[in-house]
Amino acid sequence: MITCRIYGTPVETGAVVDGLDDIVFETVSEESQPESRRFCYSLLDNDIVYGLGETMGGINKRKKSYVSYNTDDPHHRQSMPSMYGTHNFFVIDGEKSLGVFVDTPARVTFDVDINHSGVVSVLVESPNVKLYTITGEGAYDITKQFLNIIGQSFLPPLWAFGYGQSRWGYKNSKDIDKVVESYRNAKIPLDYVCLDIDYMDRYIDFTVNKKRFPNVKEYVSQKKNEGIHLVPIIDAGVKVEPGNETYDIGVQNGYFATNEEGKPFSAAVWPGMTHFPDFFQQAAREWFGNEYHKLTELGFEGFWNDMNEPSIFYSEYSTKQSKLDQVLNFLIPSRAEKQEGSKNNAYDDYHRFYHMVDGKRMNHHDVHNLFGGLMIRATGEGLSKLLPKRYLLFARSSYIGAHRYGGIWTGDNHSSFEMLRQNLWHMPALNMCGFLYSGADTGGFGGNCTRELMLRWLAFSAFTPLMRNHSALGTKKQECYRFERPEDFKKIIALRYRLLPYIYSEFMKAALHKDMYMKPLGFVYPSDETARRCDNQLIVGEGIMIAPIVEEGATSRQVYLPEEMIMVRFDGENFSEKKYSAGNIEVKIPLNEVVFFIRKDHAICVSKHLVQSTKDMDLWDVKKIGYDTTYDQYVDL
Ligand code: GLC
Repeated sequence: MITCRIYGTPVETGAVVDGLDDIVFETVSEESQPESRRFCYSLLDNDIVYGLGETMGGINKRKKSYVSYNTDDPHHRQSMPSMYGTHNFFVIDGEKSLGVFVDTPARVTFDVDINHSGVVSVLVESPNVKLYTITGEGAYDITKQFLNIIGQSFLPPLWAFGYGQSRWGYKNSKDIDKVVESYRNAKIPLDYVCLDIDYMDRYIDFTVNKKRFPNVKEYVSQKKNEGIHLVPIIDAGVKVEPGNETYDIGVQNGYFATNEEGKPFSAAVWPGMTHFPDFFQQAAREWFGNEYHKLTELGFEGFWNDMNEPSIFYSEYSTKQSKLDQVLNFLIPSRAEKQEGSKNNAYDDYHRFYHMVDGKRMNHHDVHNLFGGLMIRATGEGLSKLLPKRYLLFARSSYIGAHRYGGIWTGDNHSSFEMLRQNLWHMPALNMCGFLYSGADTGGFGGNCTRELMLRWLAFSAFTPLMRNHSALGTKKQECYRFERPEDFKKIIALRYRLLPYIYSEFMKAALHKDMYMKPLGFVYPSDETARRCDNQLIVGEGIMIAPIVEEGATSRQVYLPEEMIMVRFDGENFSEKKYSAGNIEVKIPLNEVVFFIRKDHAICVSKHLVQSTKDMDLWDVKKIGYDTTYDQYVDL
């Protein structure tokens, strides 16, 4: 049962779109409106709090506080209150269960049993909010009810489930050729390569640098024939560049967010001074979405959206101070940490520009958390018109609702086992909020990745829908073929490709049935206390449980089996199967192997042959492993 209480006059976020007839709407009438609102929910000792999407911390969100205020902060750490996205949905699960969705683009603080013991305290910094509460038969049922009202998740094409290579620093077609050639020589499958900002002409959106990519159209098609899609980045800020068509049309039509004086607001990002499209206006969304034709006409079919919090280095109002702040924070991370509470450098600037929201001029700060998600929407709606088939899109900043148009990645993490664990914790929480197509920068974006970390991370990413190796300029290069014994990397990525019939169909099934693709164990075994407390194993699709090694130096780990299961070991060629009864087992996992578990009475389909890209994959040329059953994983698309 779903109830929505409407306080004040909330902005329409577009998060809830379906099943409206089944929701009980109540308008809360009051004589005067407070500046902020607090909602409290009491917790029993045994309750678990699930959800909150892209927030730091474990599967159980208790004993921490979180701030929804989309922030570009590359110093990922457990104590950071805000990340890039806002996903205000959580479920309290225990003797009784309750789901809560706080639908507002304003800043929200969730104090989950930390400053207020035994309580989830939600502080909304606005009088205007829609508060959805959902009751049902436990966390899984409540989450499915929620997924049902926020609409179907984005469906990417098959190639988007292949392995992708990316790095900030690939400058030209020669660099890309090298990467592709090296993967092919090492016989490590690869489906796409991302183009970071250097492919553009001076970081100007919808341009391609002709010196670096001469004959780009032929190049894109040549790569596609080789089974490689090129996936260019598009940033939120449009460079201030009179004469550039995108810029000129944006200015002429009032499609950019405005400053105090009503002129386009200028803020510096990678290209220098930029204007931000006012994604709150439908006409601006249509214009920006259609600008992608400049790239789809060249043959591109997949994109990533970045800097869409929006990230601001400094602005027309804050040049000196913010620049200095940025540099100091970069040099002294502890200084950045002290500025926690997500009053980051851009915080003041977020009060200095405006959008047209449903015909009303609104300060950016009041609708901040929606900006990134609306860029995804503009892009997704544009691409669905421009391309006759499914596109790939993943973005950094998001709000619930944007999951219908694209996926997300979890931003600038770094090369550490802590971030690998965080990746595992993020996945089910993001799935709960509709973002099924998601993943992290495998191997870590910042810092230097070791061979051990990359192998362990790949063994986890082999199960995440988005499996992309991405790293920052200046870090140690981390393409798989650069490490010692690339054949070990091949084995792990080979598993991903052999499992693709399962991964792809389970993903599609989850999306079409408004379900989750990756779940905490507690969702599937709610009355098993050990399963509920387990935070280093996940259920993938209906039939698989994974228990990856996420600790540095470990060569084996304890795995909890809530029921009898078949353990599958993949050595690069063959799958070996062994049945275990419920309980704890100790499992050795060499660096170059992947182990996973098939749930009782489930069978899964795996490809019989390894291909170098999905272009050559026959999704029906499969064999069944696991239990002898008539269970059929396929759905008609
Ligand atoms: C941001 C993105 C990162 C990208 C970089 C350069 O930091 O999060 O993925 O490589 O910008 O475009």
